[in-house]
Amino acid sequence: MKLLVIGSGGREHAIAKKLLADPIVETVYCAKGNPGMVSDGIQVVAIPETDHQSLIAFAKEMAIDWTFVGPEVPLLNGIVDDFQAAGLNIFGPNKAAAMIEGSKEFAKELMAKYQIPTAEYQSFVDSEKAKAYIQEKGAPIVIKADGLAAGKGVVVAATVDQALAAVEEMLEEQKFGQSGAKVVIEDFLEGEEFSLLAFVHEEQVYPMVIAQDHKRAFDGDEGPNTGGMGAYSPVPQIPQSMIDQAIETVLIPAATGMIDQGTPFTGILYAGLIATVEGPKVIEFNARFGDPETQVVLSRLTSGLAQIIDALLNGRQPEITWNQQFSVGVVVAAEGYPETYQQGMIIPQKAAEDVQLFYAGVAERAGELVAAGGRVFLAEGQGASLEEAQKKVYQALAKMPLNKMFYRKDIGAKALK
Ligand code: AMP
Ligand code: GLY
Repeated sequence: MKLLVIGSGGREHAIAKKLLADPIVETVYCAKGNPGMVSDGIQVVAIPETDHQSLIAFAKEMAIDWTFVGPEVPLLNGIVDDFQAAGLNIFGPNKAAAMIEGSKEFAKELMAKYQIPTAEYQSFVDSEKAKAYIQEKGAPIVIKADGLAAGKGVVVAATVDQALAAVEEMLEEQKFGQSGAKVVIEDFLEGEEFSLLAFVHEEQVYPMVIAQDHKRAFDGDEGPNTGGMGAYSPVPQIPQSMIDQAIETVLIPAATGMIDQGTPFTGILYAGLIATVEGPKVIEFNARFGDPETQVVLSRLTSGLAQIIDALLNGRQPEITWNQQFSVGVVVAAEGYPETYQQGMIIPQKAAEDVQLFYAGVAERAGELVAAGGRVFLAEGQGASLEEAQKKVYQALAKMPLNKMFYRKDIGAKALK
């Protein structure tokens, strides 16, 4: 098979590499990819993810069997609708179904309608009304930009003043533009966070192993929210009963609810959950694989990724198996991220033998890979225990010259407390 992956980050590097490792696959193209993918045999194609017509033309010319979409932006731009209209096979939600991620209010309404557990909330476009609600509710409280904001449109406010300031930034100063023209204000949920992803084809739901992301920039969950600074899988402090409950009360009702309301979902459904004393509750849905969760989750997949997707696209039952290892993935970011960051630093092209590198914000200059984005790459390693996996990754990172870059030293530490 010849496949096309849309996207250019570490997540797409992991997806493309895993697809290519499947014996039924001959070639994997990635548009627009990044130069760090090339040494893994992935064919990088210089078409941006926003240029649907050129991507369609490429898929036709190369006789691509099917296309896999990594990021949320093309999904919300209707890339699945456009490919299907052109008679091409593509795996991902159409524009209407991608709204489960594209609008927090859409997701909240779905959850209310199908009794999916989540935090109590209200949405606002009016700053005065939002502020009055905050005064009435008190802190801690969570303020979220309604639309996409690259993981940065959420403020977990410890005090009423912080919450009011967040509302002013979003509704009055338009810090997130149109994405923040409406805000969702919700109750703070107490508990451990985990990410539960599933392969979904309408009513068929096949859950993956869980992972835990580290959204804050610095050790000890300090600093601003980011796209994600590292992840590990499994998450031993989350009991299997909590996962089973999340499948029953969140994933399955979400998939069947989407069918019921006329927006059936096919693709990767991602539930961001908090394990509260009352059971799992949703903090967000995404319509795609998570980054960096994918790099640790797919690294544990022992069956063929292409065979899974191909089975789902053709109405067959997929075979999905995982190893029993622990996987730890540590993001190396450019100094300054998630604000203005350094660029152009030379970055390593090799790690210890059993540590994988997944590249994200990189460019090529005179045969070298150089930093060209906030999250530059992720190092992933596995072990029979979490400690062993951590040791492997951190020892590999310690040997790398990482000029003007930083990484968290505590990925996975919460599981060992
Ligand atoms: P999100 O972009 O919705 O995943 O939110 C970013 C981060 O804010 C999450 O990973 C959580 O750590 C935190 N968060 C979001 N919603 C809540 C909530 N209702 N209660 C507590 N923490 C939350
Ligand atoms: N790691 C969180 C996300 O991909 O949204």
